[in-house]
Order: sequence, then structure tokens, then C-alpha cells
Amino acid sequence: MKIRAAVLEEFGKPLVVREVDLAEPKAGEVLVRLVACGVCHTDMYTASGVDPSGYAPTVLGHEGAGVVEAIGEGVSSVAVGDHVVTLFSPQCRECIHCLDPRTNICLAIREQQGEGYLPDGTTRLSLDGEPLRHFMGTSTFAEYTVMPEIALANISKEAPLDHACLFACGLSTGIGAAIYTAKVEPGTTCVVFGAGMVGLGAVAGARIQGAERIICVDLSDERLELARGQGATDTWTAGPDTVERILEETGGFGADYTFEATGLVSVMQQAAESARMGWGLCTVAGVAGKGETLDVIPRWLITGRRVCGSSFGGVKGRDQVPALIDRYLEGEIDLDPFISHSLSLDEVNRGFELMEAQDGIRSVIAFS
Ligand code: CU
Ligand code: ZN
Repeated sequence: MKIRAAVLEEFGKPLVVREVDLAEPKAGEVLVRLVACGVCHTDMYTASGVDPSGYAPTVLGHEGAGVVEAIGEGVSSVAVGDHVVTLFSPQCRECIHCLDPRTNICLAIREQQGEGYLPDGTTRLSLDGEPLRHFMGTSTFAEYTVMPEIALANISKEAPLDHACLFACGLSTGIGAAIYTAKVEPGTTCVVFGAGMVGLGAVAGARIQGAERIICVDLSDERLELARGQGATDTWTAGPDTVERILEETGGFGADYTFEATGLVSVMQQAAESARMGWGLCTVAGVAGKGETLDVIPRWLITGRRVCGSSFGGVKGRDQVPALIDRYLEGEIDLDPFISHSLSLDEVNRGFELMEAQDGIRSVIAFS
């Protein structure tokens, strides 16, 4: 079929909305009609050409939500008409990682997905007869996409899809870091570095888990205001003295949990240093640039601090995204403040501009 999609033709150039071809879903695959898609930092990062693992041409987008239009042979976990959230982090439910509660990093299709192919090593997307790769296995800056069944979360039909799409990436990454990776305990003190989508999600997750004190640190007053709305009890303007201040306010010990959501290694270091002696856990959720390293003094670790990382918030997508969306529907999470702009597919580059200007938290593309 012919669909409209935002194509990254050349690194460093604006995306071009073009008519491309999308083939039918093969065995184990699903055709999804996109209803909404968030514009995420990773899309912009890839488009810029800075990411050495990036490829072009490709159809970008990975924060999608939509409706199942057709299923390939053998697909059983979704049916035509179901509402789905796209998962760049799939869950096959069969690999050694999927069967283990300690990780959400599914091993089933990593290689092919990393190179922009569907699990059988080919693409369903093409432009003028030339294959077009599937970015992050999702390619959701498009009216339709074909994705593996194991990369779709079957969600409640009550959830508005323009809100549900946030759970496809940034929001789940933040909330999940607090709930599933750190497993924040009630009555504790948490510090969240960064109040973008991921950091705000971590604040909400810490609140849901019953943290007593949630300190959010960012440079923007506007974002700190949003953090208050998600449950931050203290909001501080970031600075070189942040670690000292945390130690001062915690009897010299540090916080029970710290979360890093900026992708800056200097901030990761602050998050590691401000985790509590004895049992403090620093969770790194931000993505640093390739080749960057994190300096940690071993003595901090010997004295009981721990540092861990979290990809997609440790969320096992097919099981836990629907559960998180149910909690949203029950009123536990207020998503409205996150959605700052609604755009059409043709305005996708405007989404990148708004992100660069740090204007709002999320632009969401609405497909008509
Ligand atoms: Cu993302
Ligand atoms: Zn798996």
C-alpha cells in the first residue's frame, strides 16, 4: 500500500514527508494504523548524524500508538481493531532474558532491529523500489507501519492514543526506572536529576511508590514547576553545589535513591556521588554519547553505594505497558502537562525545532 511517511534521506537534513510503499505483514507481523506519535530526542539525535550506529534512508519515529489493521500468519496476541503501543524494546516472552524477572532486555530480534530490518532480515518499507529501513523496529512517523507482534503492547481501548503514545518511550523509561529498576520503597528520599520527559516520569514513579521526599534538580524553572505537579516535594536549580546540598539535607549521608535523566556524564557523576552511603542506589536512565565514560571513585562503592542502569525503565513492554496505562486511566498519573504541542505529520521538523528550543516536554503528531 501507499502511505505517507517522514523519511530521513540524508543525515543533518530536515525529514522529507513522502509517499512510500508498505508491504503486507508477513508471519508474526502486524499492520498498525498510527493515530499518534511523540517526537523524541532519539529521533532528532539519529537525524543529526551524530549517532555512529544510525542509518539512512529510514523512516524515523518510535513513540507510536495506533490501531491494528491486519495481522500476519500465526499472530495471536493482538487482533484487528485492538489498540497498541509500539515497543522499540520488544518482549518475546521466550528468550532467557524475557523469562527472567531481572531484566527487560529481550534478545529475540536485537541484531536485525539494530540494523533497521524486521526479524526476517528484510524491510516492508520501500521508496521507488529501493528498501527503506525500519528505524528502531518501529518507524512510526508514518500513517501505517508493519511491526513484529512481539513489539506491540495491547492496551485498553479507553486510553486516548495521543496520551498512550508517551508510554512507548520517555514516560515508561522514567516511571519504570523508579518502579521496576530501583523499586523505590515507601518513606524514602529520592533525587531526580533532569526534568524532561524521563525525569518527570521518574518523579511520578517515585511518588507512586510512596517516596516521602522527592527532590528534582533542573536548570529550567518551567520544568521544575512541572516536576512539582508530578509530586516533587523540593525543586532545586542545578549547580556545581548540588551534591553538597543533598548531603547537607540528608544528615551527611546522601539520598536513598538517585536518578539521572539528562544523558550528561557530569550529572551521572553527581547522581552517583549523592547516593546514600550504606545502601544508596543511583539509577542511570539518560543516554550518554558514544565513547563517553563515567568516573566513579571505588571507595564510594565499597561503602555501600550502588550504580545501575535502566533501559526503557526496566519495563517488560507487552506485560507492563498495558498495566501502566491502566494506572494512568485510574488517575494515578496526569499526562496532560507533558503534551505541549500537537502537530501534523508535515510539521515533524517543527517538532525537532521545539525540542531544540526546549519548548515544552513533548510534541505529539496526530494522524488524521
Ligand atoms: Cu525515545
Ligand atoms: Zn525475549
